[in-house]
Amino acid sequence: MSAASDAVHRLSVHVRDFPAPGILFRDLTPVFEDVEAFRAVTDELASPFEGAFDAVLGIESRGFLLAAAIGVRRGVPVLVARKRGKLPPPVLSEEYSLEYGSAVLEMAPRRLDESTRVLVVDDVLATGGSAAATARLVARAGYRLAGVSVIVELGGLGGRDALGDIRMHSTLVD
Ligand code: PRP
Ligand code: MG
Repeated sequence: MSAASDAVHRLSVHVRDFPAPGILFRDLTPVFEDVEAFRAVTDELASPFEGAFDAVLGIESRGFLLAAAIGVRRGVPVLVARKRGKLPPPVLSEEYSLEYGSAVLEMAPRRLDESTRVLVVDDVLATGGSAAATARLVARAGYRLAGVSVIVELGGLGGRDALGDIRMHSTLVD
């Protein structure tokens, strides 16, 4: 077991029936409160893609914490995919399905070099809807996609399949 997965097992908390009845929520915020654990987790998100990314993109909102830490530590630019209506124009939009209804993620068109390889990071991959929509945004924005890296992959929800050929890493599968 890696230091990162050990830290997540040790510090994260399972909460029943949150945010809705029947859902078992994994609260990762205690990991952010432990300096060594947070460092191990963010290092493990990035290290499988070492030398293969030039920028890191966080998916709003929990992915922001991870992308910010990786960007500063690795010295690479930080990009964001935001929920609908938060970014000023010009903006690219991608819709994705939720259990009930749909949601939209948005991103600014490319401002960095077109050779920039973007690593997408987030805390959890569930259905993969958010990450797949973000991957489409990265391509439409004019960047190259290095891959997707998450702390926790929820098995059995089809997240990995939703990403198709996209290179994907998770610290642990729940
Ligand atoms: C959660 C989680 C991931 C996403 C995973 O975010 O942080 O971003 O869901 O689900 P998916 O793979 O089925 O798309 P959420 O949209 O709840 O928002 P938050 O990060 O702002 O809490
Ligand atoms: Mg999220």
